[in-house]
Amino acid sequence: MIEFNDVSKLYETDGETIHALDHVSMSIEKGEFVGVTGSSGSGKSTMMHIMGCLDAVTSGVYLLEGQPIENYSENELAEIRNRKIGFIFQNFNLLNRMTIEENVELPLIYRGVRSAERRRLVGEALGQVGLSDRRKHTPNSVSGGQQQRAAIARAIVTDPALILADEPTGNLDSRTGTDIMTLFSELNAAGRTIVLITHDAGVAAQTHRIVRLADGHIEEDSKETKNGAAIF
Ligand SMILES: Nc1ncnc2c1ncn2[C@@H]1O[C@H](COP(=O)(O)OP(=O)(O)OP(=O)(O)O)[C@@H](O)[C@H]1O
Ligand SMILES: [Mg+2]
Repeated sequence: MIEFNDVSKLYETDGETIHALDHVSMSIEKGEFVGVTGSSGSGKSTMMHIMGCLDAVTSGVYLLEGQPIENYSENELAEIRNRKIGFIFQNFNLLNRMTIEENVELPLIYRGVRSAERRRLVGEALGQVGLSDRRKHTPNSVSGGQQQRAAIARAIVTDPALILADEPTGNLDSRTGTDIMTLFSELNAAGRTIVLITHDAGVAAQTHRIVRLADGHIEEDSKETKNGAAIF
C-alpha cells in the first residue's frame, strides 16, 4: 500500500540544511498496523505528511498503492486524501468556528454524502470515541483530550482504507487511551491499514510492527527481526 524508495526530505532554514528524512526505504502492506517511534525531531511527522500526500519528497520516490504520487495533480491528491486517508494530526487541526459535530461532518460534505446519512455517520463516529455529549461545543471550549477524540472521529467517519495518526493518545488519560487503542485494533481487524506515531512504548507495543526513527533514518524495524507481535 505504501512504499518509500530512498526517500529524503530536506528543510532549509537560515542557510542550514536539515535532513528530516535521510534515504528512507520501507514498505507497508495493506492491513498492517504499524507503530512509528523515535525521539522528538527524528522525522516521524515528516514521514506521516509524506505518506498522506501532504508534502512532497526532496528526492527518492513515494508510491501509494503502487503509484508514484508525483504522477497526480493537486486535485487528484485532494481526492485521494478524502477518499482513502483518515488523518489525526499532532495539533488536531480542528476548526474553532465550527462545532465538533460540524468538524466531524466536513469530510463527508466534501465527499458528497447526503445529509441524513451524514448525521448517522457523525453520530456513530462521535459515539465510538465517547464524545456524543460534547457534539455541540466548539473545539476551543473542550479539553485537549476531547479535542483529540474529535480529531479521531473526523478521521474515521469516512471509513478510510488508511489511517495516519500522529500521537493520537498523547493527550488522553490511560483509560481513554486504552479505549482508543481498542478502537484502532478493531478498525485494523476490519482490514484498515494504520500507521500510528507514538512516544509511548506501551502504546507502540499494541501495534503489530514497530518502526523506530533516529535522525531521519530507520534505526530499527521489527518486521526485519520477527513477524507478528512487535518484540521491543
Ligand atoms: N517546516 C519545517 N521547516 C524546517 N524544519 C522542519 C520543518 N518541519 C520539520 N522540520 C525539522 O525536521 C526534523 C524532523 O521533524 P518532525 O516534525 O518530522 O519530527 P518528529 O519526529 O515528528 O518530532 P516530534 O516528536 O517532536 O513531533 C526536525 O529537526 C524539525 O525541526
Ligand atoms: Mg511530530
